Amino acid sequence: MGSSRGSKVVRRIIVTMLYLLILLCGFTKFGYSDNVESPRKWRDPTVVIAILARNKAHTLPFFLTSLENMDYPKSRISLWLRSDHNEDGTLDVLKKWLNAVQSSYHWANVVLSTSVPNRFPDEKGPAHWSNSRFDNVIRLREEALETARKLWADYLWFLDCDTFLINNQTLRNLMSKQLTVVAPMLKSDGMYANFWCGMTDDYYYQRTDEYKPILNRERKGCFDVPMVHSSVLIDLRHEASLSLSFKPQNLAGYDGPNDDIIVFAQSVKASGTTLNVCNDEVYGYIMVPLEEQNDIEHDYDQLTNLKMEIMVDQPPLPVSPLLQEFVPRKPKDKMGVDEVYMINLLRRPERRERMNNCFEELGLMATPLDAVDGR
Ligand SMILES: *[C@@H]1O[C@H](CO)[C@@H](O)[C@H](O)[C@H]1NC(C)=O
Repeated sequence: MGSSRGSKVVRRIIVTMLYLLILLCGFTKFGYSDNVESPRKWRDPTVVIAILARNKAHTLPFFLTSLENMDYPKSRISLWLRSDHNEDGTLDVLKKWLNAVQSSYHWANVVLSTSVPNRFPDEKGPAHWSNSRFDNVIRLREEALETARKLWADYLWFLDCDTFLINNQTLRNLMSKQLTVVAPMLKSDGMYANFWCGMTDDYYYQRTDEYKPILNRERKGCFDVPMVHSSVLIDLRHEASLSLSFKPQNLAGYDGPNDDIIVFAQSVKASGTTLNVCNDEVYGYIMVPLEEQNDIEHDYDQLTNLKMEIMVDQPPLPVSPLLQEFVPRKPKDKMGVDEVYMINLLRRPERRERMNNCFEELGLMATPLDAVDGR
């Protein structure tokens, strides 16, 4: 009797252990082996990426590819995207991209407007920043800010479509700085970049001695500056972010221009925090803005110039196969001469490759000629 009771207890213990084992295996199966990334994934902060796109069909394939290549789980990113008043194929590029990738992001809030006319009444051309254009941009940026706050997003990242990030750690690096407002330094060809080192009393750009050493990365780190724009990450968990705004009406005593980036910069100052630009790593590039009288075609040449500049230090800007059809192939010619030769030492293949990439970009038909080493 005693021994039978004892064996019953033993059996019960064994059965219980088996259950526990099965339960444990179950957890392992569904909790971990199912998705190796998930423990890390759920620790990553949530980000809303806000994008305004207008007349950017030519830069979008490169911009969107760099966004896609960012090393960050898309399930922790929401997209907020607005596009209106386009005169080019911007909406076609965006539609194709969204169709293919939208579902991999946590959420997408997208308004693609096809309304005509495609200019504001007070605009003189596609590069003219008229007052109603500023009003529209200010309204949209403020809406993105409010949406991200309502969503309880940890971060909001404003990204302009004429920026090209070549560093896939950009987002993670910026987060690691633990700053309320921070931008990666983005360079252009020439002296233009997405930050200022000086601002006049009436809120406009002022070149100071600090600018060049930061631009050329002779000084490296993160710098408190009067202006960052075009790629700005805001930590919405910081209390100072609560009073940030793009609207002049929201800023007590503001007497500056009706300009989204200037109002925003002043609101950062008023909230007691700082704007920061980081150049500790090479993050990417930005297009030089068009002058008021320029047409969109002028921007195509600027894109070529910037892509040539990038190839001095970097591989060509990547384009995902999905968006390749939106990058026009340049017909090649010989610039009206009989033959174009490229003389290059065979033992310098990286130079040959770079030159071939440049010829591709410029539409130049060149014949390679192996050089003889004079030594
Ligand atoms: C990020 O970029 C580096 C260097 O270009 C590359 O080696 C790495 O595979 C990339 N990582 C991801 C996740 O794309």
